[in-house]
Amino acid sequence: MTEIVITEFMDEAAVAALKARYIVHHDPELFGKPDELARLVADIPALIVRNQTQVRGEVLAAAKNLKVVGRLGVGLDNIDMEACSARGIKVFPATGANSLSVVEYVIGTAMTLLRGAYFANAAMLAGEFPKTRLIGREIAGKRMGLVGFGAIARDAARHARALGMTVAAYDPYVPAGDAWNGIEKLELDALLSTSDVISIHLPLTPETRGLIGKAAFARMKPDAILINAARGGIMDEAALVAALKGGRLGGAALDVFEQEPLKADGAKIFAGTPNLILTPHIAGNTVESNGRVSGLVAERVMAALEGRA
Ligand SMILES: NC(=O)c1ccc[n+]([C@@H]2O[C@H](COP(=O)([O-])OP(=O)(O)OC[C@H]3O[C@@H](n4cnc5c(N)ncnc54)[C@H](O)[C@@H]3O)[C@@H](O)[C@H]2O)c1
Repeated sequence: MTEIVITEFMDEAAVAALKARYIVHHDPELFGKPDELARLVADIPALIVRNQTQVRGEVLAAAKNLKVVGRLGVGLDNIDMEACSARGIKVFPATGANSLSVVEYVIGTAMTLLRGAYFANAAMLAGEFPKTRLIGREIAGKRMGLVGFGAIARDAARHARALGMTVAAYDPYVPAGDAWNGIEKLELDALLSTSDVISIHLPLTPETRGLIGKAAFARMKPDAILINAARGGIMDEAALVAALKGGRLGGAALDVFEQEPLKADGAKIFAGTPNLILTPHIAGNTVESNGRVSGLVAERVMAALEGRA
């Protein structure tokens, strides 16, 4: 009888480690088959998901013997944490294991957007050589403004400083006494109006939903770069498009969306928007982080099943 169900992609070596000790059902597309998922989870003690599987409602009700949920990532907004806690189900995210990949995404897209290089492709393929139109900017000396100052933001701050940036952050929930790693602490409005690169690192909560909306964009410098590799819904997509089309923002990179997966209908809003990089929720996914995240979650799930955690 199956003991562990994995509903999304997981590194093969970690799946093999689980299979060496347990009966595992791994279907990377199972998150999109709710009836099959509800049937498969009926008797299992352990479920492993990424962010596309909704661990709530019918799935949780069907999983009568569930003891452990492994989350191949860090955001927990796809898991009903209250219901899990009420039933004594342990949830293990891969805290810290994909932070470096997100940070490299933030720095990489910021450099690309500041430089303007990405947007030369279309012109060059059309036979142009826009050398004099494309005067980009260096990242050194610019100010990085971090919205949220948790694990990934702190890692981003370290990398940004190493590149010669100054760094400020906004996070009212950092406990008193925290040294802020020497980073300048600002209120949100001051952070938005003084930063050259603004990067969002918040969870999606009722308080953060829509936090970066029309009023926030109005405060940003007209040549600022905005990056959202946290969660869709924190930033208002229509307000971003209006700011970019209106020349009131320098560029943006979005890895996360209000509706995921983003389909043709949802993508229409971004059509014709200049200086915009869209990626399919891959900031935290690299070959290296997938190995780290999957290995960590496999180990935590096995430890919990064996009474070691
Ligand atoms: N795109 C990806 O592939 C990817 C990968 C990893 C993480 N993420 C997302 O990145 C985000 C940050 O992850 P993390 O590991 O740094 O989380 P974290 O929990 O370590 O940090 C989040 C920070 O946000 C702060 N915060 C909460 N509510 C706030 C509010 N209303 N205003 C200001 N600050 C507030 C908290 O105090 C905390 O310091 C999460 O949403 C996570 O899901 C995305």
